[in-house]
Amino acid sequence: ARNIHNRSLLSMLDFTPQQLKFLLDLARDLKRAKYTGTERQHLQGKNIALIFEKTSTRTRCAFEVAAYDQGAHVTYIDPTGSQIGHKETMKDTARVLGRMYDAIEYRGFHQHTVEELAQYAGVPVYNGLTDEYHPTQMLADVMTMREFSDKPLHDISYAYVGDARNNMGNSLLIIGCQLGMDVRLGAPRELWPKDELIEQCREIAARTGARMTLTDKPREAVRGVDFIHTDVWVSMGEAPEKWGERINMLLPFQVNAALLAAANNPRVKFMHCLPAIHNAETKVGAQIFEQYGLHNGVEVTDDVFESEASIVFDQAENRMHTIKAVLVSTLADV
Ligand code: CP
Ligand code: NVA
Repeated sequence: ARNIHNRSLLSMLDFTPQQLKFLLDLARDLKRAKYTGTERQHLQGKNIALIFEKTSTRTRCAFEVAAYDQGAHVTYIDPTGSQIGHKETMKDTARVLGRMYDAIEYRGFHQHTVEELAQYAGVPVYNGLTDEYHPTQMLADVMTMREFSDKPLHDISYAYVGDARNNMGNSLLIIGCQLGMDVRLGAPRELWPKDELIEQCREIAARTGARMTLTDKPREAVRGVDFIHTDVWVSMGEAPEKWGERINMLLPFQVNAALLAAANNPRVKFMHCLPAIHNAETKVGAQIFEQYGLHNGVEVTDDVFESEASIVFDQAENRMHTIKAVLVSTLADV
């Protein structure tokens, strides 16, 4: 779609359902082309800056591989390796990088920072995660649900359980409503998205035919769904002291074998944007397990994470194909 050319991707709300579907179809075509060795490069001579004020594995690697596959070059700017924030404002940074790069990816804290970057850079800016939104993740999540379902998009149902006030909760609510899907959030009321966002999503759903359910009962959230999503209970940028309170509030929303069974769908699939805390083999995992007396997982149990129902690595792979679709459709001169 020509109307995506030169556009930024700051939040899902900037895109129409038609544009989102176009990106999803393009990602599917690019994935097929890569698998069959018929991919053509559309981004030769382009340079892309990747700014990370928070850490990343998937988003960074997806942008790098997508760019290289398409013939573009990238510069990775790590969370400590630039002047941004301490010595130089975002407005100035934007005007510098916009002179050198054809596009900029930004992962950070505030949504207004990525918006300011886009306002002054003069080139497309992609939100690689803020406290509020994770738009590129949404494309991968929907692409993956499509691949693992034989239903048309508007018939697919999914639940997101856990911290529904974070970037993933907000974003999964928005994308489901935009695409006319059956979307459910299961979380304690204090962790529902902000009222304004819920209201905005209700309006979108009324136009698209989406079904939107918010509940504080985990079993009700997952009943009959095709996919169950969750995410970490304390996000990057939140105080580690939050762990105690969140574990108390969210343990009933843990994705374990019993919650999976409550879906009452033998084909239900488990999804997680990752990283997930499902065992004690990482520093953070070991510490949380020990401190709170957890034995088999935090937001998801190890048995569910490692089960046949888990499609988290397909989801992770699709970050690359969908980000490639964003780069090609916004930057290619074709
Ligand atoms: N899902 C995701 O954004 O992962 P990273 O933090 O590794 O980029
Ligand atoms: N909600 C998580 C998502 C990580 C990809 C965070 O912001 O840390």
